[in-house]
Amino acid sequence: MIHIPKAEYGRRRKALMAQMEPNSIAILPAAAVAIRNRDVEHVYRQDSDFQYLSGFPEPQAVIVLMPGRAHGEYILFCRERNAERELWDGLRAGQEGAIRDYGADDAFPITDIDDILPGLIEGRDRVYSAMGSNPEFDRHLMEWINVIRSKANLGAQPPNEFVALDHLLHDMRLYKSAAELKVMREAARISAQAHIRAMQAARPGLYEYSLEAELDYEFRKGGAKMPAYGSIVAAGRNSCILHYQQNDAVLKDGDLVLIDAGCEIDCYASDITRTWPVSGKFSPEQKAIYEVVLAAQEAAFAEIAPDKHWNQAHEATVRVITEGLVRLGLLEGDVEALIASEAYRAFYMHRAGHWLGMDVHDVGEYRVGGEWRVLEVGMTLTVEPGIYIGPNDRSVAKKWRGIGVRIEDDVVVTKTGCEILTRGVPKTVADIEALMAAARAQAA
Ligand code: GLY
Ligand code: MN
Ligand code: MN
Repeated sequence: MIHIPKAEYGRRRKALMAQMEPNSIAILPAAAVAIRNRDVEHVYRQDSDFQYLSGFPEPQAVIVLMPGRAHGEYILFCRERNAERELWDGLRAGQEGAIRDYGADDAFPITDIDDILPGLIEGRDRVYSAMGSNPEFDRHLMEWINVIRSKANLGAQPPNEFVALDHLLHDMRLYKSAAELKVMREAARISAQAHIRAMQAARPGLYEYSLEAELDYEFRKGGAKMPAYGSIVAAGRNSCILHYQQNDAVLKDGDLVLIDAGCEIDCYASDITRTWPVSGKFSPEQKAIYEVVLAAQEAAFAEIAPDKHWNQAHEATVRVITEGLVRLGLLEGDVEALIASEAYRAFYMHRAGHWLGMDVHDVGEYRVGGEWRVLEVGMTLTVEPGIYIGPNDRSVAKKWRGIGVRIEDDVVVTKTGCEILTRGVPKTVADIEALMAAARAQAA
């Protein structure tokens, strides 16, 4: 299994600590277990920031980083080994494992945190934490601070600054290392295979969930624990619902099906959308819309390179889509005026992409100092233009209604432009039709 090597977690902690102010401490909690319903838990997914700094996969754990501390800079609070609980729920690293397998300098039982952590915080000037995102943890943090305050008359020194960790950490997460790109390429490869499998399996009379099952099969076979987000399998008019997740409608001859799905490998997401005909052959209208979206995506790729800013790719998609809609008679008027008035938003109502990484909509600022962020090598993002023509849209001729097309790929910014991580799935009309025809010929 391709995964982030242990040494990289150590490098990340060091890099973060090097940016922290002198005499400070950072504290991060693991994700909580979420209850699904009585006695059933949601599949556990570690918090992305916590995972980024530790690779530690268990709940009920807290990372403490104390740059410059002579007795160890990285302390992990985690669950103790417990033969009975491990018999029921699975193995735990315990404190020994935290040090041996996860590089902690020291480790303590999570049940001792209230006794130990105030003593670690005391005397440090600044506390870095993800303030505001986890109210329960924020409350704990204030309790620990109050323990120190209550001892002020004995000379205890509570910290006097609380700093949001996100600025430092999320900026680090925005730039992907070689190891991260390797994992993301693997997630992309498996997801590409899943999309191909769904194209090959499609037949009128199957259901949207039949195709979702094909995706899940490839994801799990490839070693992914779960999709990076709820898979969207939207046939016919459902393709016009941007975040459709019902996935239970029948696939009809003549429908397009839009699949937006990607798996997660070692907590790194992929995010791919392909749109293709259930029958294996695009109708003239479907093809016309598809070609506009594809051209928009190509135009966007050309605007992704170091020194180009975040919005240039989006602007390129807006131009190509507006021109295309005018050419097809779906919009009327002067292209410049239609862009200025955002008339295209009736059919293209989302942005051309987002940062991609441990979170499918990854962290990182899109603007810096009020200006669009300039792209740099190692940033990863999606490129996903779309056109959606509502099934009841009386402003257009009937033949166009209910067509929804999105095409989405994942890219990394390189020295000379960008590398498409998800090029393993066919994308041109000819290539999709050929792949689907071959699958049918084989099945016949
Ligand atoms: N799958 C969600 C997105 O494309 O942003
Ligand atoms: Mn996306
Ligand atoms: Mn997507």
